[in-house]
Amino acid sequence: MMRLDKYLAERLGLTRSESRRKIAAGAVAVDGAVCRQADAKLDENAAQVTVDGRPLGGAYEKYVYLMLNKPAGVVSASRDAREVTVADLAAAAYPRRQLFPAGRLDKTSTGFVLLTDDGAFAHDILAPARHVEKTYLVRLDTPLTAAMQAGFAAGVTLADGTRLAPAAAEPAGEDPCCVRVTLRQGVYHQIKRMFGVYGAGVEALHRLAIGPVTLDPALAPGAWRPLTAAELAALRAAGGKTSR
Ligand code: URA
Repeated sequence: MMRLDKYLAERLGLTRSESRRKIAAGAVAVDGAVCRQADAKLDENAAQVTVDGRPLGGAYEKYVYLMLNKPAGVVSASRDAREVTVADLAAAAYPRRQLFPAGRLDKTSTGFVLLTDDGAFAHDILAPARHVEKTYLVRLDTPLTAAMQAGFAAGVTLADGTRLAPAAAEPAGEDPCCVRVTLRQGVYHQIKRMFGVYGAGVEALHRLAIGPVTLDPALAPGAWRPLTAAELAALRAAGGKTSR
């Protein structure tokens, strides 16, 4: 159950006071009857709400889950005083939601970022103990070697002594400098630091997949779309939760 003014504000992207003004003006009906009470409680999953006689389409979504193709030059944060953030890219469509990225990519990196306002979901996807794999396409400034592959498989020890979990580095096609990397951890600058142990530099890094969900190739850099129900269910299963 939730308050009518909150429901209307979230569904229509209004401020709470704009929402209350609409309700007070008699523009809002719940289950066929005009309701002028901003604090009236409604069942957000069952109530039929109309505004100016027009039904609000679609089911109420408690949380938002978006797949974004992050372009280079945008920072993985909710907001930033100077830089454009991944949340800024979808903010106009969700003005009342506090979207944040579930997992970060470096400013220069590109690809799949999950934007959500569901903190528990983000935790499940990111918690090291849940082992949700992230897959990246990486271009190195030198060919992939057998030593790098063996080292990644055994678990790389970074320059500062941090011992990482086993990961995978495999050739990605004909170009010996193009590598598909799979991680189950999210340590700061992890891939760059892992290859740095072998004297290799990362020229480009693109996240292809989070767990079983692959970045939609139809999404141009900077574009996003809501996850489908099947993608969300697959991610929840990968994060160890089948329902909520
Ligand atoms: N590892 C990195 O070094 N950078 C990223 O953006 C993601 C993983």
